[in-house]
Amino acid sequence: MNIAVIGTGYVGLVAGTCFAESGNDVICVDIDEKKIATLNQGKAPIYEPGLEEMIRRNVADQRLSFTTDITPAVRKSEIIFIAVGTPQGPNGRANLQYLRATAKSIAKAMNGRKIIVTKSTVPVGTADEIRGIIKAGTKHSFAVVSNPEFMKEGAAVDDFMKPDRVVLGGDDFKAIEKLKELYEAFVRTGNPIMVMDTRSAEMCKYAANAMLATKISFINEVARLCEKMGADVGEVRRAISMDRRIGPYFIFPGTGYGGSCFPKDVRAMISMGEKEVEMALLGAVEKVNERQKLILVEKVKRFFGAKLAGKTFAVWGLAFKPRTDDMRDAPAISVINALLKAGAKVQAFDPEATQEARKIFGERILYAQHGYDALYGAAALLILTEWNEFRRPDFGRMKQLLKNPVIFDGRNIYDPRDLGKLGFKYFSIGRKHG
Ligand SMILES: NC(=O)c1ccc[n+]([C@@H]2O[C@H](COP(=O)([O-])OP(=O)(O)OC[C@H]3O[C@@H](n4cnc5c(N)ncnc54)[C@H](O)[C@@H]3O)[C@@H](O)[C@H]2O)c1
Repeated sequence: MNIAVIGTGYVGLVAGTCFAESGNDVICVDIDEKKIATLNQGKAPIYEPGLEEMIRRNVADQRLSFTTDITPAVRKSEIIFIAVGTPQGPNGRANLQYLRATAKSIAKAMNGRKIIVTKSTVPVGTADEIRGIIKAGTKHSFAVVSNPEFMKEGAAVDDFMKPDRVVLGGDDFKAIEKLKELYEAFVRTGNPIMVMDTRSAEMCKYAANAMLATKISFINEVARLCEKMGADVGEVRRAISMDRRIGPYFIFPGTGYGGSCFPKDVRAMISMGEKEVEMALLGAVEKVNERQKLILVEKVKRFFGAKLAGKTFAVWGLAFKPRTDDMRDAPAISVINALLKAGAKVQAFDPEATQEARKIFGERILYAQHGYDALYGAAALLILTEWNEFRRPDFGRMKQLLKNPVIFDGRNIYDPRDLGKLGFKYFSIGRKHG
């Protein structure tokens, strides 16, 4: 099939590359000239495991190309995916300006019937709006289908190639059949392609992210109570996860959720309820999360005092989660800003996110080339992202480099007893020996 993907970010680039990988001819479009130039040099502008090799292979096989010119891409394609950003706008609402602009450009470029698919996360009712915009801009026939994306950054290629389910929202039978055909290659193990109306499909994405954010805030609140009452959230988590109604997934305490999706999608869902449906639970989920982002700073101040001037802190992990370079709404931003505000200096290390961090902090912090370099002369280490390479470090070397053997672990990656035996003062989230 001939496919165009408009918006070549985390979602569009992965989706376009995976569609090409399964034998389709794909043109990825973006307004960001630098991004397209990077891609045309065979480099991925983002870090996502397995993506760059897959891009190179499909470009070499001439199934995948990149352009800033939407018109030929639309003309050549029967299916056009919209994967542009829908960032947070005023009052927590999703900002649909990029999506509307894209819909207008598609309408202008159309030269025959097209299937237009919204992959971006959009408020319920947006497919109807897109339909209106396109209808006003073309005389050609078209179908609009909602196809929310559930991939996880850090495992996006795997998730796209083997989705738990594919959701298609729409009432144009032919368009739905075509998209089912396209997605057949990705659901060979029998995972379902679920067809529903556009509004339900649009709601699925928000409901999924809100549920996941709720699980995180729930366990973080339990962790706080565990600390106060002398219980261990690790034990509690293991025990409750054995209940099949609860399950073991996504109930790990930490420094709060971040990233480009959960924060903005929770806020967008709250704003969708407006005055008629107060989203009281999600309001609490967000409040708990904002508080949780600063839990390590609270612990640091309890240990070192509120004024941190003259002290340097090492930070391991800047990305909002491992295996990505994405720092959008990452807890590291709140933590580092709070440390700097209290007068401290910061030496940070992340295996992939340094470039993104530079855009946020500039020269206000130091960036280490290696994890151990960040420790030199630091009053303590803060761990903010659970990259695998942090899990089994050389503790002896760490002790030599740090000024004090103190670790504040926002991801509970070490055993408190082990760290105690090694002579560290160790603080983690909601655990008894922390
Ligand atoms: N990142 C994720 O893990 C994820 C997962 C599921 C769904 N989503 C949703 O998918 C959408 C895209 O997210 P993302 O993380 O890929 O965003 P992103 O910011 O990485 O990429 C968006 C891209 O769209 C481009 N763009 C903007 N306007 C354009 C236009 N008029 N024409 C062509 N390109 C244009 C931007 O230059 C950018 O490269 C959002 O709605 C997001 O909520 C994201």
